[in-house]
Amino acid sequence: MTNKVVINCALPYANSPLHIGHMAGAYIPGDIFHRFIALSGRESIFICGTDEYGTPIALKAEKEKTSPEVIANTYYNEFLNTFESLDIKFDYFGRTTSKVHEDFVQDFFQDLQEKGFLEKRQMESAYCPREKRFLPDRYVNGNCPRCGYEFARGDQCDECGRTNDPKDLINPTCAICGGPAEFRETTHIFFKISELSDFLKEWLESKKDWRANVTAFPLNIIEGGLRDRSITRDMDWGVKLREKGMEGKRIYVWFEALLGYLSNAIEYSEMKGERDLWKGYYDDGETYYFMGKDNIFFHTLFLPAMHKASGKYPLPYRVTGNEYLRFKGQKFSKSRGIGFTVDEVLQMVDKDSLRYYISSILPESSDSDFSLEEMKEKVNSELSGKFGNLVNRIVTFSKNKGLMPIKGESDHSDIELMVHMDKFRENYSSLMASVEFRKALGLWLENVKIVNSYFNDSKPWDLVKTDKKATESKMWHALKAVEYLTITLYPFVPSGAGRAWEAIHGYALDGISLSHLAETCEFKTADTAIIFKKIEIQEEPENQMNLVVGKIVFAENHPNADSLLHLKVNLGDHEIDLVAGLRKYYSLENLEGKKIIVVKNLKHSKIRGIESQGMLLAAQDSKGAHLLTTDEKEGTEVTVGDIACSTNTKLDLDVLKTYELRVDEYDGQMVPTAVIGRKRLHLKANGKMLRIDGDVEQKAPIK
Ligand code: MF3
Ligand code: ZN
Repeated sequence: MTNKVVINCALPYANSPLHIGHMAGAYIPGDIFHRFIALSGRESIFICGTDEYGTPIALKAEKEKTSPEVIANTYYNEFLNTFESLDIKFDYFGRTTSKVHEDFVQDFFQDLQEKGFLEKRQMESAYCPREKRFLPDRYVNGNCPRCGYEFARGDQCDECGRTNDPKDLINPTCAICGGPAEFRETTHIFFKISELSDFLKEWLESKKDWRANVTAFPLNIIEGGLRDRSITRDMDWGVKLREKGMEGKRIYVWFEALLGYLSNAIEYSEMKGERDLWKGYYDDGETYYFMGKDNIFFHTLFLPAMHKASGKYPLPYRVTGNEYLRFKGQKFSKSRGIGFTVDEVLQMVDKDSLRYYISSILPESSDSDFSLEEMKEKVNSELSGKFGNLVNRIVTFSKNKGLMPIKGESDHSDIELMVHMDKFRENYSSLMASVEFRKALGLWLENVKIVNSYFNDSKPWDLVKTDKKATESKMWHALKAVEYLTITLYPFVPSGAGRAWEAIHGYALDGISLSHLAETCEFKTADTAIIFKKIEIQEEPENQMNLVVGKIVFAENHPNADSLLHLKVNLGDHEIDLVAGLRKYYSLENLEGKKIIVVKNLKHSKIRGIESQGMLLAAQDSKGAHLLTTDEKEGTEVTVGDIACSTNTKLDLDVLKTYELRVDEYDGQMVPTAVIGRKRLHLKANGKMLRIDGDVEQKAPIK
């Protein structure tokens, strides 16, 4: 084992906010490992940065009608905040649009060309005849030919993780206009990765201690025949090709982004004023790469092939690919509104709680599910209930009894505890070193329970009545065990572990290593130590009812039904037809000109020959029906409390019922209300409460 370690996390595309899935897949594992390496007394560089070229950014810019630079800048800055907000602390976080990166990529490309690994070839590429342009990678959508996933893209399928050739997609369409894609001839430069097939196979087979999913996947691809890949694209956002006749083309984003690990390490070295600093780490050290499952191909085949072809850079020491974190069974996806961004969760809970929970469910060997309920349960019962409580009890007891924790004679149970803690440290270290973080945290929790039992079994509250010195020695042993737990928790929950450390030592946790644990030390406990508060999570209340003020402009008896009326209602910008069972309660003259409330997003239904394009709301009691009404203008949105409608999907009548619409008394008035989350709220238009037309009974249902 060498002393030096390079820790790299996949460079995130600067095109959308980072969500919890990204954190669990790459950045929290990377940060855990970085902190563990520091505790082990080894030197490391922890490098990341934004991936700013390629179709992900270009396409986003087109959709937002802005430039790729603006998109990249926005997210680069946002990511810095996101990482800080979660205590993820890179030594360097650069960007692939930097000059250093560009130069590095050009030199590398040139070098591979000279070494004969690159070759110009004709190929067929997806093309949109309407937009008159080629459609590289994400500019083509379609169904995955392997797993059938319907949102697969030209570059890869996010569901099964396979890289795609756009030609294999089923029903390929243009991502800009949505029309069918064609295929046309174009010239590109290919990386002859197939020549390295045998080499890669042997190398991957030698990686016996890597996770099975990380080696099985590329070996499988090699088995099926590793194809040469084009590393240039017809587009105008990316590192330019210098070669004659190829000026309009750009280097494929993956080919250059993978070099971002090296170029960012170089920038870091320059920043430190030691140009060759990175070399020491790469040449003599171990290189680790952390990423989600969809990046495994590129890090186990593409990057090693590039490094091997250049002959200048070492192959990865360990590639750690994680499976997916899911939300209610689906993959996190900001664009499809599934799951949460980091910021969204941090508005509900603190960073320590989030880091602890994610660490405890890391998708290391299989997919796992993120749930707010489970987060609350685990944080409250484990982090706060078991560990936080343990520290608090020891510290508070010491304080209350005026005890000085001083090591005296160790009795049998003390010795047993210390032997046990040393064993724990060893097992923990070996799990952490082999990137089994979830297991290591599980082991930690078991040991919290053991220290808890030790403290309880020692019955210091009895002992202190007869033997103060012996009690103080017990306290010392308990605190020493807590120190083990604190340091081993640190990689997972750095801020919280820092608070625990201060509570037992009276100074900040800084520059501490695991070997410190073997030494005898002194403790100076704080006055109180509430280190982890219990968390409360309120599920975001959601209003799916699209309610709007309408004005009746025309009313007639339904030609085919005795009890029904046919109304034409102005919703501000357009008119709709409604069928309502009001004939018994309202005369036609009374209705014209009246303001009513309409549920706009109900499934349309044909009622006796007339299509009703929504539903009006009326309270119904023993006397009859009373319309909900207001003085606000037609077209005004109606909110429940202040919660506006959050969806544009069509509602089922059954879903409408879950809001328990009914009349309630407020300040002597009868007003309409609905339940969202666990709260009953008033319906409002422009912030003003709606009214009920006529005298209505308390609690009358609204339908
Ligand atoms: N940008 C890619 C993603 O977000 C990861 C690139 S890793 C790199 O999936 F090393 F190639 F940059
Ligand atoms: Zn697929």
